[in-house]
Amino acid sequence: LGNGLAKTPPMGWNDWNAFGCGISEQLVKDTADRMVANGMKDAGYQYVNIDDCWMTHNRDSAGNLVPDPAKFPDGIKGTADYVHGKGLKLGIYESAGTATCAGYPGSLNHEQQDANSFAAWGVDYLKYDNCNNQGVPYQQRYNAMRDALARTGRPIVYSLCEWGEDSVWTWGSATGNLWRTTGDINASYGSMLSIFHSNVKLAQYAGPGGWNDPDMLEVGNGMSFTEDRSEFSLWAEMAAPLISGTDLRGATPATLSLYTDRDVIAVDQDSLGRQGTQVSSSGGLDVLAKPLSNGDVAVVLFNENGSAATISTTASAVGLPSASSYRLNNLWSHVVTGTSGSISATVPGHGSVMYRVSQGSGSSVGTTHPLVAASAN
Ligand code: GLA
Repeated sequence: LGNGLAKTPPMGWNDWNAFGCGISEQLVKDTADRMVANGMKDAGYQYVNIDDCWMTHNRDSAGNLVPDPAKFPDGIKGTADYVHGKGLKLGIYESAGTATCAGYPGSLNHEQQDANSFAAWGVDYLKYDNCNNQGVPYQQRYNAMRDALARTGRPIVYSLCEWGEDSVWTWGSATGNLWRTTGDINASYGSMLSIFHSNVKLAQYAGPGGWNDPDMLEVGNGMSFTEDRSEFSLWAEMAAPLISGTDLRGATPATLSLYTDRDVIAVDQDSLGRQGTQVSSSGGLDVLAKPLSNGDVAVVLFNENGSAATISTTASAVGLPSASSYRLNNLWSHVVTGTSGSISATVPGHGSVMYRVSQGSGSSVGTTHPLVAASAN
């Protein structure tokens, strides 16, 4: 969407995956505090997003949405002020229907009034769902809120949550900054894998200002560490929004090490804004390539199967110009090696190996671990 926002995929947090309807002002504030303390804010995470269930079951007598006073004693405005005071931004949730998915008042036919409330409260991001849409055509519903947000004059990232219906990727970039390409994710390898399969095919529709959204991250919510690392690698490779869906108050150091890996985040956030594609996929062994702004290519070797396998490709197959030597920076181990063209690794079951591949064998560029890189050369 040409509103000047989301030039790179949005990064942040949302409560839904871990808490369902258990949202509160306290949770938002605690999470904002954690994002500052645990390094996520410094790593680029910006949005603290409230999902469904934040309001009362009825509008007030003037027709305004009302934040639940028990959950949000200081309202959304007070919550936004706190989050802004931490140098972060606040997101909120509504539905393009008569009610949200959990049954709270929806914004259909109240678009301008609700957009005005969001802007007045200091909201920076709206996730706009599809429940209870009464069969009103999608363009009408989603464009009405797009235009209402624009009229407020406040910069508000617009996230379409239409579950991949109506081939949303074909019209998403004219309407929103990101659009869900599938139904809801859950914290299982099977769910993550099937969403990956759907989303990876849609690379041509993504770019600065408009991103395919394979749903919020389940990293830390119950998959194995290997599977969590695959999700984070694949989402970064697909230039997906990186919205953590875990309880950051209880996140382990291992989980946080995934969320804050600067080299992997740099792939997601690369200014070229290209979504990675499948260079090859056979027997559950995938090679993905994502061109980067400095000419490097981010490569993911992903093993969909249960037992370890060797996955191989070449520098030319992933799109690098021919050269006598290349550097392979392993973005999770941070070990840099050289190759004359072959790119290959033994990959554990459900696991991923991720490389940043550059031409030449010279000194390290683009890594946050220059000493490791230098000694490996
Ligand atoms: C839908 C959305 C989810 C979440 C819930 C809230 O299922 O797809 O991401 O927002 O509604 O009720």
